Amino acid sequence: LNYNVNRERSYILQVLFNGLRRLEYRGYDSAGISIDDSDVSSLTISADLKAPQSSSISLTVNSLPPLVFRQEGNIESLVKSVYQEVAESQINLEESFSTHAGIAHTRWATHGEPAPRNSHPQTSGPGNEFLVVHNGVITNYEVLKETLVRHGFTFESETDTEVIPKLAKYVFDRANEEGGQTVTFSQVVLEVMRHLEGAYALIFKSQHYPNELIACKRGSPLLLGVKELVEDLSDGSSFNDDNFLSKNRQPKELFLSSDANAVVEHTKKVLVIEDGEVVHLKDGGVTILKFDKEKGKHGGSLSRVASIQRALSVLEMEVEQINKGNYEHYMQKEIHEQPESLTTTMRGRLIRGGSCKAKTVLLGGLKDHLKTIRRSRRIVFIGCGTSYNAALSSRPILEELSGIPVTMEIASDLLDRQGPIYREDTAVFVSQSGETADTLHALEYALENGALCVGITNTVGSAIARNTHCGVHINAGCEIGVASTKAYTSQIVVMAMLALAIGGDAISNEARREAIIDSLFDLPNKVREVLKLDEEMKELAKLLIAEQSLLVFGRGYNYATALEGALKVKEVALMHSEGILAGEMKHGPLALVDENLPIFVIATRDACFSKQQSVIQQLHARKGRLVVMCSKGDAASVCLGGSSRVVEVPQVVDCLQPVVNIVPLQLLAYHLTVLRGFNVDQPRNLAKSVTTQ
Ligand code: G6P
Repeated sequence: LNYNVNRERSYILQVLFNGLRRLEYRGYDSAGISIDDSDVSSLTISADLKAPQSSSISLTVNSLPPLVFRQEGNIESLVKSVYQEVAESQINLEESFSTHAGIAHTRWATHGEPAPRNSHPQTSGPGNEFLVVHNGVITNYEVLKETLVRHGFTFESETDTEVIPKLAKYVFDRANEEGGQTVTFSQVVLEVMRHLEGAYALIFKSQHYPNELIACKRGSPLLLGVKELVEDLSDGSSFNDDNFLSKNRQPKELFLSSDANAVVEHTKKVLVIEDGEVVHLKDGGVTILKFDKEKGKHGGSLSRVASIQRALSVLEMEVEQINKGNYEHYMQKEIHEQPESLTTTMRGRLIRGGSCKAKTVLLGGLKDHLKTIRRSRRIVFIGCGTSYNAALSSRPILEELSGIPVTMEIASDLLDRQGPIYREDTAVFVSQSGETADTLHALEYALENGALCVGITNTVGSAIARNTHCGVHINAGCEIGVASTKAYTSQIVVMAMLALAIGGDAISNEARREAIIDSLFDLPNKVREVLKLDEEMKELAKLLIAEQSLLVFGRGYNYATALEGALKVKEVALMHSEGILAGEMKHGPLALVDENLPIFVIATRDACFSKQQSVIQQLHARKGRLVVMCSKGDAASVCLGGSSRVVEVPQVVDCLQPVVNIVPLQLLAYHLTVLRGFNVDQPRNLAKSVTTQ
């Protein structure tokens, strides 16, 4: 956060804390903040009076070190501790700043337990000369640490991040020892970047460069938000002019953030920062440098730095989307808004056709690549977690309509195996956030191997959206609950549309295609209907509240539903749960069945229905404690001689049934979590976007 307008300290703290609250879903085990001790610009004036000929040096000497607060736990623990410390040390909340540079961070621990010393900002040492907040992982931190220790630095944390501010101080001190021209903040950061390996989005703050912030990134997401307090376009230019940022318009508030959620309540004018870019904020002005680290001809690395101009873009999101509205939790809100999110996903993409026109699907982001996709030797779905499950549920319809073999890859496993990817492959990357590190690395790998890469994401401007050859946005709206719900159902719908688009207009498939399109049109209504099971699922949750474990059996289209339902219960209700392919029941899982273990069986009508009936019979024969999900009116056909509890759901076309079937399981996971007293939106140890490998 960088200001060049008069703001009180309390306002600055509020903006930073609110920003952290908006980002809390990305990590919430500890947090930290740094603000200025005093208005450094007023210090400049007093310094000038004493030594007018050397203002910049006197400024450095006289500016007070920034204040740093760090706390274990969630954002509210940080807020409480900051206000407590502010009161105890009599820091004036009403002190006003004509310029200010503040940074804040919420953490998802990778290196080092959640503790104040491991929280960010990490510091260069006593005096907080350089401070850094970091999203990502520095892979060569051990080597850097050894070198810095040899140069007399002592480390207080177990983080990989701590090497960064210390390296900055080392670079700064060396440059000053060597004398000559004063080193600039961006020169320090560029030198630091040259030594860093791994993934990062970084913001630097320094006592030596008051009122300035530098941000840079490689791999992890970063966004700049620009809020002009007085719209001054008197020179006829508009904010999307390439050189808009370099014009020093006054007054301005500038925001840097890992995602748009923290920025949208202040401004919709943003710039998505690209890998290798260094953004320098100073008194409301922005300079962007591009840093390229390339392999030289003889193995060594070369660095090139160039100044660049970029145009701003406008965020297409509303603040209301990231509020809870009348709901108690984001997960609850996101489950219940699925009829609307599905409608948005399909908007403008389904054509019902006139009397002579067939029903069809239009996916603008794919139209130039459909021919190539149809000629592919195979289609490979790649993703993690819920996104992988969504792809799995779409595999059968894609195979059926396209006739192309479809294989499934969990991103990390593909990378571990360095599995074969060919030029003739179409690789489809499915990711809600569009920035999951494993999926992103798998994308790099597939690009290197020459595959056509398609992205299916919910985040416009995300790394996966930008780096794939083509793709489809799922348009589900911002998803904040860590456990994915509405993005899952929208992903399935997009992939059903993808199957229709790739399948083309073969006459042999016409009736099938039309049935799917009709069902898509009606899907939001069917989801509205299934949401009425809310109370029933709450009652079921009450029965299951004290269980240790829950098995979920599914097959065919609903194998993915079993995996995803079990994942929801595991993630948020912190109950062991396993999704099992019913066809594999006899090959192991049956050994677990007794009269105590609760088992959820998905047996809605499709080509596998009779096989599921036989699974239910076999489970009954072992006195299994069953809850069976079936199509409306099918209760008698699934209670085959046992005393199963039945959940009846509306029936839709088979390939879209997973969209309906997951809803009761989402509701069950939600209610189980609330009843068991756990945090629904921020489950223990998890994070929404896993930007580290
Ligand atoms: C994390 C989240 C999951 C999500 C997975 C993949 O594990 O907690 O909810 O499914 O990442 O995320 P993506 O953004 O790539 O869909």
